[in-house]
Amino acid sequence: MTKIALIGEFHDAGKEILKRNNINYIEIFDYTLDNLKKELADCDGIGIRTAKLPKEVLTHCAKLKIVARHGVGYDSVDIEFLNEKRIPLAITGSSNAVSVAEHVITMFLALSRRIIDCHNLVKNGEYLQKTMIQKTVEIFNKKVLIIGYGRIGREVAKRLSMFNCEILIHDPYLKNMNEAKPPFKFVDLKTGLKNANFITIHIPLSSDTKNFISQKEFSIMNNDVILVNTSRGGIVNQENLKLALDKGKILGAGLDVYTKEPPDKDDPILSAKNIIFTPHNAALTVECRARMSIETIENILNHLQNKTNINNIVNKKIL
Ligand SMILES: NC(=O)c1ccc[n+]([C@@H]2O[C@H](COP(=O)([O-])OP(=O)(O)OC[C@H]3O[C@@H](n4cnc5c(N)ncnc54)[C@H](O)[C@@H]3O)[C@@H](O)[C@H]2O)c1
Repeated sequence: MTKIALIGEFHDAGKEILKRNNINYIEIFDYTLDNLKKELADCDGIGIRTAKLPKEVLTHCAKLKIVARHGVGYDSVDIEFLNEKRIPLAITGSSNAVSVAEHVITMFLALSRRIIDCHNLVKNGEYLQKTMIQKTVEIFNKKVLIIGYGRIGREVAKRLSMFNCEILIHDPYLKNMNEAKPPFKFVDLKTGLKNANFITIHIPLSSDTKNFISQKEFSIMNNDVILVNTSRGGIVNQENLKLALDKGKILGAGLDVYTKEPPDKDDPILSAKNIIFTPHNAALTVECRARMSIETIENILNHLQNKTNINNIVNKKIL
């Protein structure tokens, strides 16, 4: 009998599919390695949110046929091991781009208009001190650099088009880069960093992209740059970011992701100037949670029924 494990909280919309099809499933909220080894031993498919799935656990999954991430990042799963065992790793490729893109625009606007400072001023009875609010700026007519032009980067670009800004795109892995028409322009990283007023990052974390934005990159940027990172912690070097903010090297920053999640209470980044934070919830709108839950479960069921959605499989080469 088929058995599916859902690790973490899944929206009911996805679980309804399992119920309708009378599929046996368990929900796991104790992510300790010993518990995962025990619970996953006889599972055919695993749906997983934020818990880690290392080799140490996967070696105990004798019946495993597919792992499906609830999301698109997969650095929490040991893909090398899955490749070795020819087990596909699926992601929810079509669920969360819109939600993350809206989050980026929210952060750009909140930072450029200093919404949190304004809110605090009014709330603290300092309404008439509005000249104390440092410079606020518009996105209109500005240059925005999108690093990584995949699913999320493209949704951000669509939403930025209505602000009448120039959209600089850096993604060396794309073909036909020179065919972009205004307001889109493909650029090398240095040109993008040098010219942008706003920067948003949408690349995966890997050994190549760790510390992708560090001291050298900050030194190239304009002083008026607003930088938003919703991709993965570690891609922006947090120590260098704090320094750039505190010294006024850049104007502001928004982080949804952190080198260590959650950050320690005394993490220096939390006291940086002109920064706003969200707790890695860019993709956690109600609508997006429902879509991700459904797509994760469809990824598992389709594969178990020999109807694999290849577009969502990260390690296609093993199929
Ligand atoms: N904050 C959140 O809740 C949240 C939600 C979803 C995704 N994410 C993160 O966002 C990232 C992007 O997601 P996506 O769905 O757009 O991925 P995607 O695979 O569709 O796009 C990634 C793009 O980055 C490009 N790229 C890779 N390395 C690059 C490099 N060194 N320089 C420039 N471009 C590079 C690729 O060519 C690709 O076009 C994910 O890897 C994930 O880590 C975060």
